[in-house]
Amino acid sequence: MCQAITIQYNFTNAMSVHSSANIKRITTHTLQEMKLRGEKISMLTAYDFSMAKIVDEAGIDIILVGDSASNVMAGHETTLPITLDQMIYHASAVVRAVKRAFVVVDIPFGNYQGNSSEALRSAIRIMKESGAHSVKMEGGSEIRESVVRILSAGVPVMGHLGLTPQSIYKFGTYTVRAKEEAEAQKLLEDAKVLEECGCFALVLEKIPAALAKKVAETVSIPVIGIGAGGKVDGQVLVMHDMLGITQEFKPRFLRQYADLEAVMLDAFKRYITDVKAKDFPNESESY
Ligand code: KIV
Repeated sequence: MCQAITIQYNFTNAMSVHSSANIKRITTHTLQEMKLRGEKISMLTAYDFSMAKIVDEAGIDIILVGDSASNVMAGHETTLPITLDQMIYHASAVVRAVKRAFVVVDIPFGNYQGNSSEALRSAIRIMKESGAHSVKMEGGSEIRESVVRILSAGVPVMGHLGLTPQSIYKFGTYTVRAKEEAEAQKLLEDAKVLEECGCFALVLEKIPAALAKKVAETVSIPVIGIGAGGKVDGQVLVMHDMLGITQEFKPRFLRQYADLEAVMLDAFKRYITDVKAKDFPNESESY
């Protein structure tokens, strides 16, 4: 069993010193309170300054600088190739844009598994070099030592169970996880381990809704779902998927809130037409 560590942050004082805007930052404490009063937590990914600025202005609670950047920003087939330096680059751009949201950064594949010293070094680099507020790690009891070590340095950790894309070659498929009793039981036990270690929240990806509900009712920390049904404490989606930029990815759990691919294609095509027709720039657009 892990030693319980409770970490709560309050940035309110720091904000009054460093920012003229009177915006109350979301903290691990805010998120815990939201779970207690039954207010759902909203979370989206972002990987750059411009998108992070808009999603923060919209009022999102948590921004995840996910290693899904490997897919949607870099075009890799999996999340495995993205490096720690690349994650820090994305995270620091996001942090510069954010005034309110709590920023979580994925520790990439290969920078924490099996070596708690390396895990701690990776987490500290992310926190120091990007200014993010916490890190996320995939796995349960097998990464317990790394989780505890990072938490002992005062870095909040978000867990991630269920479909964990960094283990895609072990699973062999992106299908729903924990449908069988043994895997469901292990997931529930892992959720308790991560809670006992002191993780401030958990992501559950692509598991049966009934199991996700059970986890959210069992652990006291916020449980954020993606493809895990509606009976959890919050929801997360990949920004490019919900905006309709990644049109080829349409899993059942995804609700598409815009068709940005169509909007962008139309804008790009009209621009090209205007340039070719010598219509752009016109006189009022020239010096
Ligand atoms: O990397 C990511 O975007 C994630 C979400 C799918 C939770 O881990």
